[in-house]
Amino acid sequence: MSTTSEPSAAELIAGRPHLSMHAMDGLVMDGVPLNLIADCVGTPVWVYSAVALRRRYRMLADALSQAGLDADIHYAMKANDRLAVLRLLSREGAGADVVSEGELRRAREAGIPASRIVYSGVGKSERELRLAVAEDIAQINVESAEELQMLSGIASAAGRVARVALRVNPDVDAGTHAKITTGLAQNKFGVAFDEASALYRHAASLPGVEPVGLAVHIGSQVLSLAPYRAAYGRLADMVRGLREQGLTVRSVDCGGGLGIPYRDEPAPLPGALAGAIRGAFHNLDVRIAIEPGRWLVGPAGVLLSSVILVKQAGGSRFVVLDAAMNDLIRPAMYDAWHGIVAVSAVDAVAPTVPADVVGPVCETGDTFARQRLLPPLAAGARVAILDAGAYGSVMSSAYNARPPAAEVMVDGDSWSVIRTRPSHTDLWQGESVPHWLQ
Ligand code: LLP
Repeated sequence: MSTTSEPSAAELIAGRPHLSMHAMDGLVMDGVPLNLIADCVGTPVWVYSAVALRRRYRMLADALSQAGLDADIHYAMKANDRLAVLRLLSREGAGADVVSEGELRRAREAGIPASRIVYSGVGKSERELRLAVAEDIAQINVESAEELQMLSGIASAAGRVARVALRVNPDVDAGTHAKITTGLAQNKFGVAFDEASALYRHAASLPGVEPVGLAVHIGSQVLSLAPYRAAYGRLADMVRGLREQGLTVRSVDCGGGLGIPYRDEPAPLPGALAGAIRGAFHNLDVRIAIEPGRWLVGPAGVLLSSVILVKQAGGSRFVVLDAAMNDLIRPAMYDAWHGIVAVSAVDAVAPTVPADVVGPVCETGDTFARQRLLPPLAAGARVAILDAGAYGSVMSSAYNARPPAAEVMVDGDSWSVIRTRPSHTDLWQGESVPHWLQ
């Protein structure tokens, strides 16, 4: 969160093809002025570009096929699970990577067939496993001996055989934020590398489960290929080792985690990731799957917000927005940097001054940016917080009794509300005051 060599608003916009600045309309997403959406729906509001979502999905799918990979893309829907987003990606050919009963039900509601759904997660409850077995989803990524045992019992009792991939912890440092790294031995995820082969062999002897392959996911917002290469190399060795023991390994799930440039970080492109996958597995005759979340949806969304007021205090200039940490928690939680650009064309050309951009929530952590160079921005001005399509609305809360923001999808020149903002009374639906307090 410093001001050193920050990208300018023009550079941020130029790097995001679905955004453009128009002299009259201000910031436009595809064919729709963001001011128009803010006027009609109010702020704060999330806005996603369908065009960007499709473009990104196709770039990823093309990169995999150009690398000669026969690969399935299972969208990690935890990044953004809105039905409209799921439907759009599923129409492009995506399946889903789910981590809860809620996600599994949402994916099915959005029309994603069970045969295109894989289930990840370190703690699937019995109820969740029963649902996954009943739905006969494509694959369950098992993360422990305990879970394997539970699944074997549940599937045998149901007279089913669940296809299982063993999620291996490769003990590789993804070099990402400590809160989103998952592939180190001390992390809670996956089966320890040294124990995985024995567990796979055990799985082959159990009723109700059929081990079909291995899975790995090293972390999120990964910006270097080296940890991928290291993890995939270890997995490829394990595939060979298992086959030498006469075991069948049909597929490898290479996980997600591909990072995006929020600021101006050099980030690997899908072609480079595809190359790393090909490098490790091309002569092993395994079917490849990946689980990208952020890369597909992150850059496609913005959080559109209005300035409530601008105040001076303690030598700083605070731009107080009507969006807050309850909407977008990433800066507070991971010190994440998000681009912030003015929506009005007049603001866009004004000289910049440093400002702390904050929300109205009663916590100092409710800060989107410190000492950010922005135009003066008077009360009522609008800004777009960029790259908010992933881990944005899905992580939002109603803290400070603030109703979560509405969500809009833009497709070319048209747009539609895909999720309305709940009212204040909606927020206390389901609550009751005990009879002794009446
Ligand atoms: N597969 C598994 C098993 C995962 O746990 C995750 C993300 C993904 C795939 C997708 O990773 P992606 O391609 O989106 O990086 N809330 C954090 C990110 C948490 C990621 C959790 N797992 C953030 O806002 O940065």
